[in-house]
Amino acid sequence: MLKKKMQKALNEQINAEMYSAYLYLSMESYFQSISLGGFASWMRGQVQEELMHSMKFYDFVNERGGRVSLDSINKPETSWKSPLAAFEHILKHEQLVTSLINDLVELAIGEKDHASNIFLQWFVTEQVEEEASVGEIVDKLKLIQDNSSGLFLLDAEMGKRVFTLPQASA
Ligand code: FEO
Repeated sequence: MLKKKMQKALNEQINAEMYSAYLYLSMESYFQSISLGGFASWMRGQVQEELMHSMKFYDFVNERGGRVSLDSINKPETSWKSPLAAFEHILKHEQLVTSLINDLVELAIGEKDHASNIFLQWFVTEQVEEEASVGEIVDKLKLIQDNSSGLFLLDAEMGKRVFTLPQASA
């Protein structure tokens, strides 16, 4: 049975992951508006990932006999001054999510909730990947600066991303 304190924190994380999906969807729209279809497509993959993260928390709360309680989702920003500014925003956001996951792990350990701790380890690993992949794109955008050929090449590369749902056991 899920303790109330853990249930509340997991419910807040469902909301944080939904907000992440909303933020990436807003960025997809931004990239569509500046005709960078590859970046927009990359964002769509990110939206699907965040929804999947949110649903993992949702399912876990239910599996543990808890009660999911949905809250309103904050309004995301709608425009950025450049692709680099958007990706720097993402990097900061993912670093924040990492700290939220770490707080959840600490709470699970403090509450001696081993099941939650094990469940959260998947997200600890996932955040390392998220920060690394976004950090790499930030670095590339810094190298490109105002070079439009470089930006078009990167856009084409970003468009190749294929989102696949992980195995049920993942
Ligand atoms: Fe669900 Fe991008 O962290």
